[in-house]
Amino acid sequence: MGPLSAPPCTLDITWKELLLTASFLIFWNPPTTAQVTIEAQPTKVSEGKDVLLLVHNLPQNVAGYSWYKGQIMDLHHYITAYTIDTEMIILGPAYSGRETVYSNASLLIQNVTQKDTGSYTIQITKRGDGTKRVTGHFTLYHGPDVPSIFPSRTDYHSGENLYLSCFADSNPPTEYTWSMHGKFLQSGQKLSIPKITTKHTGIYGCSARNSATGRESSTFKMIVVSAPLRRGRLPWDIPT
Ligand SMILES: *[C@@H]1O[C@H](CO)[C@@H](O)[C@H](O)[C@H]1NC(C)=O
Ligand SMILES: *[C@@H]1O[C@H](CO)[C@@H](O)[C@H](O)[C@H]1NC(C)=O
Repeated sequence: MGPLSAPPCTLDITWKELLLTASFLIFWNPPTTAQVTIEAQPTKVSEGKDVLLLVHNLPQNVAGYSWYKGQIMDLHHYITAYTIDTEMIILGPAYSGRETVYSNASLLIQNVTQKDTGSYTIQITKRGDGTKRVTGHFTLYHGPDVPSIFPSRTDYHSGENLYLSCFADSNPPTEYTWSMHGKFLQSGQKLSIPKITTKHTGIYGCSARNSATGRESSTFKMIVVSAPLRRGRLPWDIPT
């Protein structure tokens, strides 16, 4: 028997493992029991608004719940807990002062910020037979921040091309518009004007808007276009 005869044996074991895993999953997830789920209301929330993480299909014989920020269930991520018998609320290190746990396990988060985005895990402790954990999340609509215009350069010469781009973080993505002296130029993140002249001197504005949050923010930048460089006429040019 050479080493080449080994692979079929390995494949055989893998196949058995797969079968075991499949039967385990079927056993562990009986179709008759409704799954505990978390539903965010609303699913997409704007910064500064409230979101409720509703827990559906709570099992029978619940002793209490603990909520964690993220999926790691350690003390550092522990927000709050509720015990059914004593109707007691316990606050953890991850409690921000804006979370409320209800007796039906739902968690209200008020005045959400960007730091609140991501997932939340509830651990449900049942009387006698262990725990269940479920993770849910919501999407945060935020921004836009104050936009920035690139590059930082402000002085140009006639005949050059003007390329400006604007950036402001936002979800959903920012809608940009450009203006000059308050007059609409175009929409889009990039502004490009080929072969500028002194007439293009002025104040350029980039406006960033997020229709989901209804917020808008603008930045202005002075661009100075001077006469074209003429070779041989500048004092530092060496005469030939
Ligand atoms: C749980 O309680 C909160 C606050 O009373 C309520 O808004 C929510 O609908 C309840 N959740 C469920 C799943 O019944
Ligand atoms: C929401 O949070 C912001 C920033 O943390 C704060 O300035 C504001 O006062 C809060 N609003 C309410 C209604 O709590």
